[in-house]
Order: sequence, then structure tokens, then C-alpha cells
Amino acid sequence: MQQKTPTATEAFSEAVRKGLTQYPKSLPSRFIYDARGDALFQRIMKMPGYYLTRCETEIFNRHKEAIASRFADTGSPFNLIELGAGDGKKTRLLLRELLRLDTPFSYMPVDISENALSGLVATLKQELPDLRCSPWQGTYFEVLREIGRMKDQRKVILFLGSNIGNLLHPQALSFLKELRETMGREDYLFIGFDQKKDPATVQAAYDDPEGITEAFNKNILGRINRELGGTFDPGKFRHWEVYDPETGTAKSYLVAGEPMRVEVRDLDLEVEFERWETIHTEISQKYDDRVVEWLAREAGLVIDGHYADSRGYYKDYLFRLA
Ligand SMILES: C[S@@+](CC[C@H](N)C(=O)[O-])C[C@H]1O[C@@H](n2cnc3c(N)ncnc32)[C@H](O)[C@@H]1O
Repeated sequence: MQQKTPTATEAFSEAVRKGLTQYPKSLPSRFIYDARGDALFQRIMKMPGYYLTRCETEIFNRHKEAIASRFADTGSPFNLIELGAGDGKKTRLLLRELLRLDTPFSYMPVDISENALSGLVATLKQELPDLRCSPWQGTYFEVLREIGRMKDQRKVILFLGSNIGNLLHPQALSFLKELRETMGREDYLFIGFDQKKDPATVQAAYDDPEGITEAFNKNILGRINRELGGTFDPGKFRHWEVYDPETGTAKSYLVAGEPMRVEVRDLDLEVEFERWETIHTEISQKYDDRVVEWLAREAGLVIDGHYADSRGYYKDYLFRLA
């Protein structure tokens, strides 16, 4: 496995310092994922209200032959690069199909979480021993540089689970533009976009009665305590989810229930909270065809196919260069 970048702890420290000293406060959602965050996300994926994983699984079960054939359509070998692979459970449906087609490819899962990546590699070794796999630990942006150097090799880039929804449109657009720069004429980009739907359905996906999403959201405070000597009492914060059906943006917050002072000892930092002050932690953007077409056009890409679940809750789109 590629080594953890030497800057991983520094990146977390920098993000915490920046996010907690600005107003309004915020912390990037990618830092929710450590071993505890990964385990909580596994539980989220099994929640009745968290429809996203089930929808994308349904899409892959229904369309795996068509999707895998498109990936393999030039017949030339390719690298299948998955950004934010997580447990790779759904991807295994596609990997199996590609192996069945006997198409020459190698799989490169990328994830910021060392824990998620090592679990994935162990499962793949057991379940798909013939798969060629080169995992990479790092952020999407770090890996973009690496992908840029692979210009002479054909690529299919996967970005599943509506991970793109963690980026607001301007960031998503610059990310797509950067991805585009790494792509050649025969390359594909395959992205899952959660669709706009009944606001109550969206809201329920991020605000479950059992409090699993709350625990997931609060894991970022636990991580600051564990890794940076923080003194957060997560019990003093409330998990709050807001979905705006007009913009399609769902936002997660942690809201301070009382005034408090928190130390982050390793950063030599003291942070004051007023009562009801917020820390914004995550964005889960929802889309429709019009917005996806706009993003593609602005990024210099075209939609070359799309695959939906039976309820039209979720869509995976195949892009190539315009
Ligand atoms: C919502 S999970 C989705 C996992 C998987 N793609 C799926 O569809 O089930 C997001 C995954 O992306 C990883 N991740 C989040 N932000 C990241 C970033 N900026 N760079 C690399 N990986 C990231 C997390 O560690 C986590 O495993």
C-alpha cells in the first residue's frame, strides 16, 4: 500500500485550527472518517432511511453488464481508479463483472482512511484473488496529481456514493475540471449523483431516530480529542440537519447547547463557543439532470450514458471528454 503522506496529521491540525478560529466555524467532513467514523458509516449504510447505498447497489445489480462493457469497450487495458472507495462493497459487483469479461484492467482504490483501505484490500484478496489491485492512501486532490502522470494509460475513474455531493457546485466544478485535465480521449469518468426528491426522504437519510448519524457527525469532535488533545464534550452539541429543496443542499451542523471554552492542547488553541453557535461539518448536495448537464458542460465533459434505480432516487452518469 502507498504510504500515508507525511502531512496527514498536519493536514488535520491545519483544518482544525482554520475551521475553529473562523466565523462561522466549520470542519471538513473528510476528517470524520477514522476507524470509528468508518464503522459508523457502515451502520449508516444499513439504516432504513439511508437509501443511497441501496439505490446504487440496485443500479449495479441491474446494469453491471452494460456498465462493465462500456468500461471495456475499446478492448485496451485500463486502470480503474476509484476515489473515496470506502468498503468497496458495491464496486465489487462491477469488479466481478469485469473479471468475468476477462478484460485487462487493474483496480486502484483511493481513500483518505487507512482503516477503510486496508479492510478493502484484505477483502479483495480473499474474494477476488485474480484482481490486480494497487491501493493509494491520500486525498482526492493528492491523487489527482498522480493520475495526471498516467496520461499514456487508459483510465476509468469512479466516484461513487454521491461523494461528489460533499462539494458545493463551484468546488465540484473545479474538481471536475481538474479530473478532465487528467483524461484522454478514450477515458471515462463514472460518477454517482444523488437526485432531488421528497425533502422528507432526504432529511430522514441524515437525521435518523437512533442517532447513528449524530454519532458519525460528532466523531469529528472525538477525533480532535483523541488525536490533538481536545477537550470537547460531544454531549454538549446537538446534531442538526437542514435540507433546502430549492438548492438541493443538505447541510450538517453541530450546535453548541451552552457557552463553553474548549482546548485543543496539541495546537495550543483555546476556542470559545457561544450558546447556539454552529460548526458546519458536511454538505450532501442533491442534483437533477439539468444541474449535472450544466456541470458537465462547464467542465468540458459530455454525458455518454446514465443508469438510474427503479425509483429514480439516484443516478450514475458516464462522462467522456467533450
Ligand atoms: C460516503 S463514503 C462512500 C464510500 C464508497 N464510495 C461508497 O459509495 O460506499 C466516503 C469515503 O470517501 C473517503 N473520503 C472522504 N473524503 C475524502 C477525500 N477528500 N479524499 C479521499 N477520500 C475521502 C472516506 O474515507 C470514505 O471512505
